[in-house]
Amino acid sequence: MMRRAVVKGVGHYLPERVVPNAEFEKSLDTTDAWIKARSGIERRHFAASDQNTSDLAANAAMAALAMAGMDGNDIDAIVVATSTADLTFPSAATMVQHAIGNTKGFAVDVQAVCAGFVYALSNANALILSGQAERVLVIGAETFSRIMDWTDRSTCVLFGDGAGALVLEAEDGDGTNADRGILATDLNSDGRYKDLLYVDGGVSTQNTGVLRMEGKEVFRHAVEKLAQTADTALAKVGLGPDDVTWVVPHQANIRIIQSTAKKLGVGMDRVVVTVQDHGNTSAASIPLALSVGVANGQIKQGDLIVTEAIGGGLAWGAVVIRW
Ligand code: UT7
Repeated sequence: MMRRAVVKGVGHYLPERVVPNAEFEKSLDTTDAWIKARSGIERRHFAASDQNTSDLAANAAMAALAMAGMDGNDIDAIVVATSTADLTFPSAATMVQHAIGNTKGFAVDVQAVCAGFVYALSNANALILSGQAERVLVIGAETFSRIMDWTDRSTCVLFGDGAGALVLEAEDGDGTNADRGILATDLNSDGRYKDLLYVDGGVSTQNTGVLRMEGKEVFRHAVEKLAQTADTALAKVGLGPDDVTWVVPHQANIRIIQSTAKKLGVGMDRVVVTVQDHGNTSAASIPLALSVGVANGQIKQGDLIVTEAIGGGLAWGAVVIRW
């Protein structure tokens, strides 16, 4: 017998305002055709001025709790992956805790930029496997629209806002890769690559800052590292790409998603793609894609899912889940 962290609910929230590519043609030297061809993005959602990251996160959390048939107070721990928390402190996670009516658990933010959800899942899994929690809410939530340089066409057309959430619960499995739940994780980071993708300000430098990215270089690292981390995570439990029902990648660029799938040897008919509708929502993109994949009938109980992501740090990783 082996303790497993099993998915009991999933949900997402997207702010109401949808911004199509054409809207950027008014203020920037860009076109809908360029954005679509180079990134696969067609539209993204932007939060209203009175909506913050924890609001998006709490909405996604409520949807995931509803699917799990749980109340806020059934949760022991809340892990929020975000790089755009409402305030310097307290954590977005404690704000979500209050919003869902949880008074008995503990809450913490995890910051690994676009790889944040993979890191949060791995941390949540460790909390469950070590017996520190029975039920964990894992959320990815971002308002990247607040850290864009609106004069930089090479970045501001790529990102969006949103949130997705999973409820994990401890269950006993047989200890084989046929068990439901999180089967393997693989986390990596390399701080030598800071200058490829960063925000040029923060608390300690006394300004909020905006996102800066060497797109071509990040692209190169992404294609190389994403297939590798997915393969590594699968191999840890004696599985390979042929066993995967769905790859659920970080949604940054359709060309990265396609190249990674090709490297893995998985056809695009086994990849969940939402980048056209959401843009790059950083830590929110994987739980958003999981929730959309479940809602549209792609992802079903028993499916073998591999998620993979890379972002600022650089930080990257993968998680293998039997849904
Ligand atoms: O989530 C974290 C991870 N982030 C990523 O994974 C992003 C990785 N990078 C990418 O997705 C791609 O590199 C981009 C979408 C950012 C750019 O695509 P690219 O094919 O690498 O284009 P590029 O940067 O080589 O730019 C090609 C040309 C340049 O013009 P020149 O130098 O060839 O004259 C750019 O100035 O396209 C120009 N360009 C644009 N043109 C129209 C850059 N942005 C735009 C734009 N509209 N919005």
